[in-house]
Amino acid sequence: MVYRVPKRILLTGGAGYIGSHTYVALRQAGHDVVILDNFSNARRSVVARLEQITGAPVPVVEGDIRDNALLDRVFTDHRIDAVVHFAALKAVGESMAKPLDYFDVNIGGLTTLLRAMDRAGCRRIVFSSSATVYGVPDETPTPETAPFRAMNPYGQTKILGEEMLAWLAQSNPDWAIGVLRYFNPAGAHRSGLIGEDPADIPNNLMPFVAKVALGELDRIAVFGDDYDTPDGTGVRDYIHVEDLARGHVLSLGRLFETGQGHCVNLGTGRGYSVLEVIAAYKRACNRDLPHHITDRRPGDVPIYVASADKAAEVLGFRTEKGLDEMCASSWNWVSNIGETA
Ligand code: NAD
Ligand code: UFG
Repeated sequence: MVYRVPKRILLTGGAGYIGSHTYVALRQAGHDVVILDNFSNARRSVVARLEQITGAPVPVVEGDIRDNALLDRVFTDHRIDAVVHFAALKAVGESMAKPLDYFDVNIGGLTTLLRAMDRAGCRRIVFSSSATVYGVPDETPTPETAPFRAMNPYGQTKILGEEMLAWLAQSNPDWAIGVLRYFNPAGAHRSGLIGEDPADIPNNLMPFVAKVALGELDRIAVFGDDYDTPDGTGVRDYIHVEDLARGHVLSLGRLFETGQGHCVNLGTGRGYSVLEVIAAYKRACNRDLPHHITDRRPGDVPIYVASADKAAEVLGFRTEKGLDEMCASSWNWVSNIGETA
């Protein structure tokens, strides 16, 4: 059941990829939403696009989650009921090179935010976690009970964040905390106005394939075809970003409804290989997508697939969109963006 009473929600990192889609979903569910973002990994043009989609002004505070005074002002001015916390650094490779940046933003930023929430008496938060907390999981599909295994500083910050939140909830029952472990978000909003827009050469598969489809990159490197998977290439549980956004609406509804926290995977429960993704994208864009097999990427996990049962049970969350819709919406977005960014 979706909680129907409108609330005032603060979206940290709300101008980013998942945050912008969640902004739309929350507005459509009737909530008032304020974005706090420092635009370190988002374009300012996202705001006008969100206004175009929702047909209303988008309240944005430009600033950093590590800024105490700013946070106090935001909570006072907007009388926030709950926070959805997306703002973080998220590149695995960069986290190996600059671990302190990751601890500073992802852990320091989270602590500063939680303190400000506590001061304001706002104790409802949804936290963006990741399948990466499972490291190389023993079980596939992977249930929420699988143990934490840090593979890199980025993954370590998600584990630490979850652990901090669990202790906080234990310290004071007023806290209601939703932890959402995303599998592999993909695709874009149906309008073609917002989507993933990496500034550099993409690390992730779907945006890389998109750039090959656009002719901006020559060919896709498939990182290994000797995994113990049906076609030998890595398997992931890709989830449409609009489905993922809806998961946040349900998570918030559950927090308000019960006053209790939860921790769930958000995935489809079904995996696709790298070669299957390339084939699906080819169908979507109707272009040739040259690819070649290279060595495995160091640190890669062979298979990540979510057990999706708990999210269905606790949140009533079921995905509605499959791989073909992820590829079609991605292609719709990237073929638009060049003209309008
Ligand atoms: P994103 O980089 O598109 O969005 C993050 C947003 O936070 C950006 O708009 C950025 O400008 C902002 N931001 C960063 N540091 C900030 C700071 N100090 N103060 C204020 N704003 C700041 O990333 P995304 O893909 O939308 O990811 C959102 C969340 O989901 C992150 O916490 C990420 O770790 C998590 N996550 C993402 C994925 C994925 O594959 N995209 C998978 C699992 C989990
Ligand atoms: N891959 C390629 N070529 C590429 C890029 C990726 O073959 O150019 C392969 C990878 O080897 C993997 C699959 O495509 O088998 C997916 O790779 P991504 O980089 O798109 O995604 P990952 O699962 O490796 O990582 C993503 C996020 C992490 C997050 C993880 C689990 O980047 O932050 O999902 O949610 F932790």
